[in-house]
Amino acid sequence: MSNLIHSPAWQALSAHKTAIGKQNMREMFRTDPVRFDKFSLQLDGLLLDYSKNLITDETFALLLDLARQSGLGSWIMRMFNGEEINTSEQRAVLHTALRAPRGAKVFVDGKNVMHDVHRVLDHMRHFSDAVRNGSLRGHTGKPFRDIVNIGIGGSALGPLMACKALKPYGSERLNTYFVSNVDATDIAETFKHIDPETTLFIVSSKTFTTQETIANADSARAWLTKQLGDEASVAKHFVAISTNLTATSKFGINPDNVFEFWDWVGGRYSLWSAIGLPIALYIGMDNFEKLLAGGYAMDKHFREEPFERNMPLIMGMLSVWYANFFDAASYAVLPYDQYLQHFPAYLQQLEMESNGKRVDRDGHAVDYATQMVVWGEPGTNGQHSFYQLLHQGTHMIPADFLAPLASHNPMGEHHAMLLSNCFAQTEALMLGKTAEEVHAEFVAQELSDEALEALLPYKVFPGNRPSNTLLFDKLDPHTLGMLTALYEHKVFVQGVVWNINSFDQWGVEFGKQLAGKLLPEIQGKPRISPHDASTNGLINRYLKVRRIQ
Ligand code: F6P
Repeated sequence: MSNLIHSPAWQALSAHKTAIGKQNMREMFRTDPVRFDKFSLQLDGLLLDYSKNLITDETFALLLDLARQSGLGSWIMRMFNGEEINTSEQRAVLHTALRAPRGAKVFVDGKNVMHDVHRVLDHMRHFSDAVRNGSLRGHTGKPFRDIVNIGIGGSALGPLMACKALKPYGSERLNTYFVSNVDATDIAETFKHIDPETTLFIVSSKTFTTQETIANADSARAWLTKQLGDEASVAKHFVAISTNLTATSKFGINPDNVFEFWDWVGGRYSLWSAIGLPIALYIGMDNFEKLLAGGYAMDKHFREEPFERNMPLIMGMLSVWYANFFDAASYAVLPYDQYLQHFPAYLQQLEMESNGKRVDRDGHAVDYATQMVVWGEPGTNGQHSFYQLLHQGTHMIPADFLAPLASHNPMGEHHAMLLSNCFAQTEALMLGKTAEEVHAEFVAQELSDEALEALLPYKVFPGNRPSNTLLFDKLDPHTLGMLTALYEHKVFVQGVVWNINSFDQWGVEFGKQLAGKLLPEIQGKPRISPHDASTNGLINRYLKVRRIQ
């Protein structure tokens, strides 16, 4: 057994879980009139209600003990201070520096990186202002209207999520497109909507070696030069965002059009860096800075608030509680805000690429669960598809509900209906419906005894299913910054408790390597490596049907 499982705080939680196993949240609310006040907190208009969780005062205290035992306080300092906590890649982890105010000092290898951070932010402001006011133009002299981000994973999901979330703040003159997939359909369908004379391609890649991104960038360049009939057009229509300045210049991108970032920014934590350029172009640099300020407000909170009033810490520890003591294998993110439609997909990379690990910081296989699968859809759509399983399925699936108090699109009673659904779902998950309550309903409906007996088991809801609710005034740049940083720090908290490195991603390498080996074979070149019978069968089927061999 690992040290973690043996540790006093873990053992205390294990024992406590057995003891509270029979308790019910209904009862907890009934016997504690201040439960909501006790288990909720606010920061700058963001409310976290975590009272509908399977916790008592004792659980909460024990979870905080586990956080303390993990040395969380010192890990937080180490991250913010730029120590190389990403040990397998020997890198600092400093996405927080990207949203620190001008004048802050953050050192990496003895150098204050804030000068570079603000130099790039100034470059972004200069560039985005020029695109937005039409003074920067394409090869034929027309202002840009179509912004195409070519990138994948962390070089796409954050900007895509934020551009969709902040549409009410977006320029009416600019259209944003996001091309990620190596499937040519992604870029081919984009070409149908854009005009080469008014298109700006942003090639976003931390490494500038990612197969999908380079293939799409090559195809975009070929399309542009064919359409405009001039190789020189590339210089005006392409910019790059990367840490690999050698590769961007090899691709032919004018060094003045390269926005730099640094190896201490992880891909999935990079929307605050130049990777956020599509966001800055779309919502303007002033709004982008509000997004950064929201992230910074959460950083300050995470760093300074005591554990018992610390939002990311509480959310992280609740996830540990369910993943490790209730065997919950997945959790749902349910935004009751259509503008947050891409938030679950963004969190999938953030959480699962960060904490989907099976080896601890000392290189030992762990003997406890790590990251839960993250999934979700905007409410109310999800209610008519998978909520059945949340309410009456056999798995316990904790859920985060997110909702704005005011809509950007007030219209009739829509928003009241939306919120009533959101609140009702958390209530229903917590309360459930007992056999006695179902029985009483049937009696009131004057159902026959026979029908009553037959239907009753199907109508019972076990309840006692946990959820958090995050309410915010309105989805604006500052709020989105806070929400995003909240989940980043929640991921960090979990990683510290599980003693894993949340900032590497070796698990994505193997498939990439094999795809690299397989490509020539798919192209009909001689086989270099033997495969298993299944893989051989698939390759042979392709070659035969496409008459390549
Ligand atoms: O394959 C995973 C990954 O390395 C992610 O971590 C990253 O966000 C994505 O690929 C894109 O990488 P890059 O920005 O280097 O193209």
